[in-house]
Amino acid sequence: MRIAATADLHFTPQVYAKLKDQLERVRNEADVLLIAGDLTNFGQPEEMEPLLNVLVRLRLPTIVVLGNHDFESGKEVELARMITSSGIKLLDGSAYERDGVGFAGTKGFVGGFGRGILTAFGEREIKDFVRASIDEALKLERAMSQLRTPKRVVVLHYSPIAETVHGESPEIFPFMGTSRLAEVVDRHGADFVVHGHAHHGKPDGHTTGGVPVHNVAILLLQAQEPSSIYRIFDV
Ligand SMILES: [Fe+2]
Ligand SMILES: [Fe+2]
Repeated sequence: MRIAATADLHFTPQVYAKLKDQLERVRNEADVLLIAGDLTNFGQPEEMEPLLNVLVRLRLPTIVVLGNHDFESGKEVELARMITSSGIKLLDGSAYERDGVGFAGTKGFVGGFGRGILTAFGEREIKDFVRASIDEALKLERAMSQLRTPKRVVVLHYSPIAETVHGESPEIFPFMGTSRLAEVVDRHGADFVVHGHAHHGKPDGHTTGGVPVHNVAILLLQAQEPSSIYRIFDV
């Protein structure tokens, strides 16, 4: 299976004018399209609707997770409903199998990496924040434990490792993701992980367990040579 992956479209009609030609090509190059969150800029249905029209016209099986930008207007439930009723698969702590390949996905959350991880100590507000991070890791756990396929791909918005965040300011690393997600990936095993969110991060890294992790934020892909708006993976 050839999988095209991208993230952080932050879609507006102006953006579409620039992406149109390249996006239409994806159908000839891939069997499945993954979009790893931040589909919209402000989480507005008015942004999601034109994007869904574009995606439906591609006639390519499409699997997405939401990103933090898709939550900005508090309309994530409505957006999720729009995505699902367009025939696009939204992963939110859930799994999906297609042609023998399993996909597990969730948005993920912030919280930091390795020794720098924020723990649930002190104020209630800190505990609530850490709880949100742990909840997303548990959702990934649930999604991955549903997979029965030997081939498995993980889709996240936030990064599970610090390595693919390098390039962003070190001050904001804890807001780029959390290694709690990588612990789950390593426990279950996967062929690879894709994520977005770190627009100026690094394309490739590994979990400590050796699972390849790819940052497919569109700005990062466009900055590569040759420039592209998606990346193809064979599985
Ligand atoms: Fe983004
Ligand atoms: Fe994001």
